[in-house]
Amino acid sequence: MNDRDALAARLATEFRARLGRPPAGVWAAPGRVNLMGEHTDYNDGLVLPFALDSATLVAVAPRDDDLLTCLSLDRPGGAALHTDDLRPGAVTGWPAYVLGALWALGWPQTRQPGLDIVVTSQVPPGAGLSSSAALTCAVTLAAAELTGLEPDRTTLAAAARRAETDMVGAPVGIMDQMAAMHGQTDHALLLDCRSLTFEPVPLPGQDTGLALLVVDTRISHTHAHGAYARRRTTCEDAARTLGVQALRDTTLTAVETTLVGEQQRIARHVVTEIDRVRTTVTALRHNDLTGLGETFAASQASMRDDFQISCPELDLAVDTLLDAGAHAARMTGGGFGGCTIALLPDAAVPTATTAVTAAFKTHGLTPPRAFETRPSHGATRVC
Ligand code: GLA
Repeated sequence: MNDRDALAARLATEFRARLGRPPAGVWAAPGRVNLMGEHTDYNDGLVLPFALDSATLVAVAPRDDDLLTCLSLDRPGGAALHTDDLRPGAVTGWPAYVLGALWALGWPQTRQPGLDIVVTSQVPPGAGLSSSAALTCAVTLAAAELTGLEPDRTTLAAAARRAETDMVGAPVGIMDQMAAMHGQTDHALLLDCRSLTFEPVPLPGQDTGLALLVVDTRISHTHAHGAYARRRTTCEDAARTLGVQALRDTTLTAVETTLVGEQQRIARHVVTEIDRVRTTVTALRHNDLTGLGETFAASQASMRDDFQISCPELDLAVDTLLDAGAHAARMTGGGFGGCTIALLPDAAVPTATTAVTAAFKTHGLTPPRAFETRPSHGATRVC
């Protein structure tokens, strides 16, 4: 039995202990790491995420009445609400993600049955690994499968995103939910966030002697909602100044000749970052580790200097990983804390991990958490 199956079995047992009956099933959806294309999704651009091998699990059973309940094995709080009362503002905290997913699927309008939902997660919250999309996608898939709704996975991803934007009030893009729904083992997803079409891109497998190492700085990005929303507004303002629908539709020349100040900085990141997604895919396809390293370095510099979403801890982790032999390293996710992702030789993983821990200690920082990961598959029913 692997970790996920064991956790699913424990969740089912806890469900039965707390609610006095077994769940109808357990569903899981993964967190994600983004390899390239940060803050490009809500600019209709390109992204290159992969699904993590750790997931959020939900055990769910329909009820005879119209009550929607949720509780977590990991966190205090929970909710119990009649379906008719489900609307933005009615729930707060983590239950807003769970019930928000049902709201986004149209629960009140379509008069779906009440549900009991119990949650547990292997994805750390606030680490920039998209624990929120893992949660909303797990609930969305479970609810759809249980009630016989048959929307495709992209429609479910869109509903999971609406749970965040409309119910929780976080103006996120579509990258995380698409990664959680469509992730493929050993592949990243080259996703066009305008057309929502995607293409799997093979990542170096175990036989290549390369490893993917995540370093969680443990700087929680949960305080960053306001800063994320401000970046997004600046992008929209810049697109308006340029007279385009989204920053995807402009060029570096237009950005540098038409925009000034903050709008120029912010738009330059987006335009060059979209290009770096293409360069990254080319480098991966040609096994060009030097090109990959250069593209990651340019992305990190752009996020630090132009978009200004890095932080000293992320910069320190990236620099230390590169000094310790990583071919490529950059921060990943929304920024202001969270994680870095690096591609490095298998043999360098222990030394790189020790080096990052030592560097954080020297700077008086909380010890980071480093772990190897492999690209995994998207949301699924576990049992
Ligand atoms: C968060 C959001 C995503 C995306 C990234 C930055 O993870 O949820 O939609 O904007 O930040 O690339």
